[in-house]
Amino acid sequence: MIDGKVLEYSNELKRLGINHEILEHPELVSVEDVQKYLGFGLDEALATLIMKTEKGFVALIKRGDSSLESKKVKKALGIESLRMATDEEFKKLTGVVPGAAHILHKVERTLIDERVFEKTKINGGSGSLLYTFRYEVQDLKKIPNSQVADITKISITTTSTSIGVKRVFSGIRATGRLHLGNYLGAVKGFLELEKTGEYETIYCVVDVHSITTPYDKNVLAKNKREIIIDYLAAGLDPKKSIIIYQSSVPEHIELAFYFSTVVNVARMLHLPTYKDKIKQHPHFVTMALLNYPVLMAADILIYKASLVPVGIDQEPHLEVTREIARKMNQIYGTDFPEPVRFATKGEYIPSLTGEGKMSKTVAGSFINLTDSLEEIRKKIRSVPTATTAGGEMSSGVKTLFTFAELFISKEVDKYKKAFEDGSLKFVELKDAIADAIYQELKPFQERRAKIAADTKYVDEVIRDGAERARKIARETVKEVKEKMGLT
Ligand code: TYM
Repeated sequence: MIDGKVLEYSNELKRLGINHEILEHPELVSVEDVQKYLGFGLDEALATLIMKTEKGFVALIKRGDSSLESKKVKKALGIESLRMATDEEFKKLTGVVPGAAHILHKVERTLIDERVFEKTKINGGSGSLLYTFRYEVQDLKKIPNSQVADITKISITTTSTSIGVKRVFSGIRATGRLHLGNYLGAVKGFLELEKTGEYETIYCVVDVHSITTPYDKNVLAKNKREIIIDYLAAGLDPKKSIIIYQSSVPEHIELAFYFSTVVNVARMLHLPTYKDKIKQHPHFVTMALLNYPVLMAADILIYKASLVPVGIDQEPHLEVTREIARKMNQIYGTDFPEPVRFATKGEYIPSLTGEGKMSKTVAGSFINLTDSLEEIRKKIRSVPTATTAGGEMSSGVKTLFTFAELFISKEVDKYKKAFEDGSLKFVELKDAIADAIYQELKPFQERRAKIAADTKYVDEVIRDGAERARKIARETVKEVKEKMGLT
């Protein structure tokens, strides 16, 4: 039977509209132990820290895999002094034992780290060491007196693979040429991680994923090569990274089938990405589409990669990947890591239409990496900037400021001030952004023309990548077959 105090807390959450499940476990104090027992990673744990400031007590809610940055907290709260509450203060304020803090304590303010919202569900304290609550993340915004802020830095706890190499994997579909969202949300992360020299980096053109929605076979054959050229022009070095087509390593597909034996159909049917796609293509609801996330999990786990540079839209797929890794490890004793996302500053690039995200499939929403200055100017000038009645930023204006932060960060304050006092000439802001985007893309465009002309070089990169990748992939499939009783 559930403890009375825990039930009372659960009812209070319900009154506030904060949905949650109650998970039971033996008495455990450390977050790591609880998560291990329940079969989750630290990235899916909430930690509530009670701290004392000159204005009183505050609660800081962060993920288990990130560490607090007191400078950011002070800035977000407008305070100067910050320290952890003593055990005495903690017990007096919360009425619970240290280690069991939940999310609704009587504090001046609650700050929730923005990284928490990269998840859909997350586990946190219940006031008792015997229960953990699994919260719907979006509902956390209903905590009274709370605010979302950037208050942590991620401490990447990559699991090393059985052979001791830390690997990175990512991929892009071959559904068109790369746009600015792909570049800022994914490719910049590819480059950053390649540059560290700390990882074995594997970057893929996921051509098999591209056939899960309607496509033209001649266009696909052309597009997939164009993306390899884009990767090289963006600066990826085939001596440092393995660059492949997914279909050149058929083991990805074999592993996806083995993985599908531990995946629940209902779980796949409810994924937001699946629902969006069947809305877009109601006459193309196929098994391949339903299996999309399982193949993505196989892409990543076949290399036992623990870090995945992708935009925020891919987080639901990464959650499925972690679930598959956990299940395979529990049932068959494999040692798959639970991969985490490597986020760039441009993890969510909005659409130029002012609605939703920049996307290949939405006309008028994107800037291609190969667009000329004139094209970029025309597109940026088309961002709607009608002002709202209350003088607040409309979504189009917010989009412009997102680009301004990314491309002309030093001038953002000047333009924001002008917006606030009504003197901003949008065309000036738009042209400054367009010019800066073009300046960033120009070297890419110059390199691209040269690489595209060197057919032999591109062919060799593709051949060499496949050979190196297959060596690793074969090993993993062999191991999985053995552990599943197939050999
Ligand atoms: P895809 O092809 O839709 O997008 C490729 C990458 O670009 C990022 N991205 C964005 N980032 C920020 N703002 C945007 N507006 C934006 N639009 C796209 C995506 O997040 C992604 O990183 N399922 C994946 C492909 C895939 C994959 C994988 C990725 C298959 N297997 C294994 C990583 C690992 C996809 O559809 O990406």
